[in-house]
Amino acid sequence: MTETAKSSYYPIEFTIGEGKTDYEKYLSTVQLLTLQKPLEERVSPEELLFQVTHQTSELWMKQIQWDLDRILAFLPEQQLWQACRSFRLVNSMLKLLTAGVDQMGEHLSIQEYQKIRTALGQGSGMESPGFNRLLAYPTKLWTVFEGVLQHRQVDLKDIYRQYEQHPDLHTLAECYMDYDDLFHKWRTHHFDLVMRTIGVEANSLKGIPTKVLQRAVIERCFPQLLAVRNEITNESGLAYGGDPLDESSEEPPT
Ligand code: HEM
Repeated sequence: MTETAKSSYYPIEFTIGEGKTDYEKYLSTVQLLTLQKPLEERVSPEELLFQVTHQTSELWMKQIQWDLDRILAFLPEQQLWQACRSFRLVNSMLKLLTAGVDQMGEHLSIQEYQKIRTALGQGSGMESPGFNRLLAYPTKLWTVFEGVLQHRQVDLKDIYRQYEQHPDLHTLAECYMDYDDLFHKWRTHHFDLVMRTIGVEANSLKGIPTKVLQRAVIERCFPQLLAVRNEITNESGLAYGGDPLDESSEEPPT
């Protein structure tokens, strides 16, 4: 759809929507806005929301990947401030991804989703190129973090125990923790979305029980950061007379 430009903005013979303005050229809006199914091919009035949410998620994941690559380059050069800056951006984009799944959960009607499913073939979020690339990052990110610790000759627990002596390392470690937390939140919220849209006692389009997502939900990017918290808490507990953790028991103490 094209709209004639208001003369106050464009006194010349431009029409907005034809890709002729600098704004449209720079953003490739003509191509971008034809990447969604045209009205006549949509199987549901809610299909546009479904497609746009997935497409914008792929774009944000592309941007996240770019900034994670920058972090991988900054840290071996001991550029901690720059790495933290990229991490803050990455972490705010993870929040946007989570807002996207929340929005879809709140607004997509389950009956309309049953129609949209018919158009998806055997498509699955597991085939998301952006998400699959992101899954490769935690190992690489942890390796460069360990490199920084070695360079500074300090171990993880000291960063937390003596955080005032290592403010930059503590801030960096907390950026990693935020990433882990926010990635985990995306997975949890996505699981909630699946639960309220198709249920978790059903099969996905790949014929996989949707319950399998539950397994991925408990995975963490940087389990070392959770382990160090357990260690510190257990040590502090002992220092003020608490009982050591009985790892053999899953029962709460009576
Ligand atoms: C109505 C909305 C949605 C439903 C019903 C849904 C359903 C599912 C299901 C059943 C799975 C398990 C794999 C399979 O068998 O297909 C899955 C995985 C996945 N979906 Fe969705 N999804 C929805 C929205 C989204 C959105 C908006 C994204 C954003 C990119 C997304 C990305 C993913 C990813 C990345 C996985 C793999 C997750 C992992 O390994 O933890 N999904 N989805």
